[in-house]
Amino acid sequence: MRKLQWGMIGGGEGSQIGPAHRLGAGLDGLFEFTAGALDHRPEEGIGYGRSLGLGDRAYGSWQDMLAGEKAQDNPIDLVTVATPNSTHFEITKAFLEGGFHVLCEKPMTMTVEEGEEIVKIARTTGKICAVNYGYSGYSLVRHMKAMIARGDLGKIRLVNAEFAHGHHADAADAENPRVRWRYDPAQAGVSAQFADCGIHALHMASFVTGQDVTKLSADTVSCIDVRVLEDDAMVNFRMDGGAVGRLWTSSIAIGRQHGLGIQVFGEKGGLRWSQEHPNQLYYMPLGERLQIIERGEANLSPEADRTSRVTIGHAEGMPLAFANIYADLAEAIRARKENRSIDPAADLYPRAEDGLRSMAAVFAVAQSGKEDGLWCDARPPMFR
Ligand code: NAI
Repeated sequence: MRKLQWGMIGGGEGSQIGPAHRLGAGLDGLFEFTAGALDHRPEEGIGYGRSLGLGDRAYGSWQDMLAGEKAQDNPIDLVTVATPNSTHFEITKAFLEGGFHVLCEKPMTMTVEEGEEIVKIARTTGKICAVNYGYSGYSLVRHMKAMIARGDLGKIRLVNAEFAHGHHADAADAENPRVRWRYDPAQAGVSAQFADCGIHALHMASFVTGQDVTKLSADTVSCIDVRVLEDDAMVNFRMDGGAVGRLWTSSIAIGRQHGLGIQVFGEKGGLRWSQEHPNQLYYMPLGERLQIIERGEANLSPEADRTSRVTIGHAEGMPLAFANIYADLAEAIRARKENRSIDPAADLYPRAEDGLRSMAAVFAVAQSGKEDGLWCDARPPMFR
């Protein structure tokens, strides 16, 4: 079976997330890197694309790439949008309407209205629009979801999610242009830390519990005074299956590195997982002893088995979690080409609907933060 063809917009030389996508897409031999508009500077984008083997399918702009791929006999099967946030909407919309499947980086859009439009376009065109909540690709995160869905924890009472790092904690560095724009509403929108990192934690809470967030109350602060937007937030939320949620996100938590983690507590047990130690899942059944579930163990769930590659005891990390999102998408695209249903264990990639829910939560956090923690509806209007 021939490899699927994959293209990328953004992710140029020196970008933060480009290499992880190239590793993830290429890892299982499912996708071939075929086309790209990798940089906002046309010459650099073409040059870097050619150095990665793209030949004349290295384009100077995403508009050229859209036109060029539409004209190909054998166009790309999937395009990843890994440009800065404010460009996601325009590029994703254009490629969906052009007939391409899209994996868009988070946040999917800058507003709820744009998010609703992307969901509608994806539904009308019938194209896949995935959003890169890549941490939901970890094998043991998939296993957590499976355990919760089959009732191992009973009814879920409480979810505690965190994404707190310390990389913007230095007040002396706050005016550095590479840091400053993130806290400037003109460039970042209505939220900084929550929109950048908090939404990963919130998505994780929904992903593992299978419950959507309905309302939230936020305490947002700028610990460094020159910042307009928040560098720390504590968010209380409620979910549609009855779970209570707590979420802390921060960029001034000195000593914390990546800082994504989740704990879920049900009537019959608790689970704890952390992104920096992704190969262990801590399971505490009520009244029993603590168990450590290892990635790669025998007799885990089909969802965990499908997303585990190397044998137990050898660490798997973030590019492999991204590779699992790509493997899901390859299965989804192949199932469509072959007119068959998708493997249910692969039908877990985050969708445009998840991107939209995140946007609604971002705006609810911004509003609640301004109004002293007022409880706000966190659902997008089209899902109310
Ligand atoms: P970056 O600033 O390091 O790189 C952005 C790249 O996009 C650069 O190569 C730039 O030249 C290129 N670019 C900008 N405008 C372009 C255009 N119009 N056409 C083609 N290329 C263009 O940014 P970074 O940190 O890699 O972030 C990119 C996106 O990925 C952001 O939306 C960010 O939120 C997201 N991200 C997601 C992560 C995740 O865990 N899912 C982690 C880090 C970033």
